[in-house]
Amino acid sequence: MIRRATPEDAQTLRRVEAAALPPGWTKDQIQGTLDEARSLVLIAEEQDEPQGYVSFRSVLDEAELLRLGVVPNSRRRGIASALLGTAATQLAESGVRDLFLEVRADNFPALAFYASLGWKATGSRPNYYPGGVDAVLMRCPARALTSSTL
Ligand SMILES: CC(C)(COP(=O)(O)OP(=O)(O)OC[C@H]1O[C@@H](n2cnc3c(N)ncnc32)[C@H](O)[C@@H]1OP(=O)(O)O)[C@@H](O)C(=O)NCCC(=O)NCCS
Repeated sequence: MIRRATPEDAQTLRRVEAAALPPGWTKDQIQGTLDEARSLVLIAEEQDEPQGYVSFRSVLDEAELLRLGVVPNSRRRGIASALLGTAATQLAESGVRDLFLEVRADNFPALAFYASLGWKATGSRPNYYPGGVDAVLMRCPARALTSSTL
């Protein structure tokens, strides 16, 4: 089941962050995203257990993907695809045309995942991440993802 997160979901998101994502987001950043009117945060759950989440921030007809993670034991089951498909459908309905993201150039699973859904690399930011790792910039029309479901 995929549902929209509420401001009360900070603890749930922190659990997914700890299990699925590299350290990065603080408690305040998570709460700030949940409280932000321009944010769309979706949680994937099975038997009330969180399996993954995605967050976007939209400005006019563009939205930036902020975080996406699926817990290790539930990967390669289409959960991230479904989260993106559901988010893209809701964003497109609210007038968003294009989706953007930044991903570490050494995150090969994520690069393969985004490429499999049709995201295209549009450029890079050299030395963007700690350790001198580049960021790859990617773009995808929201409508291109709206058919992905669980
Ligand atoms: C990247 C991530 C979100 C993918 O989640 P997922 O639920 O496993 O993805 P899906 O099952 O929807 O994968 C869809 C397709 O993407 C591709 N893909 C996904 N993970 C892949 C991997 N590790 N290697 C190669 N291709 C991969 C495949 O084509 C896959 O289809 P298939 O399983 O039928 O071959 C997950 O690996 C993750 O949480 N990683 C850690 C956090 C992270 O890097 N987030 C992104 C930061 S920008």
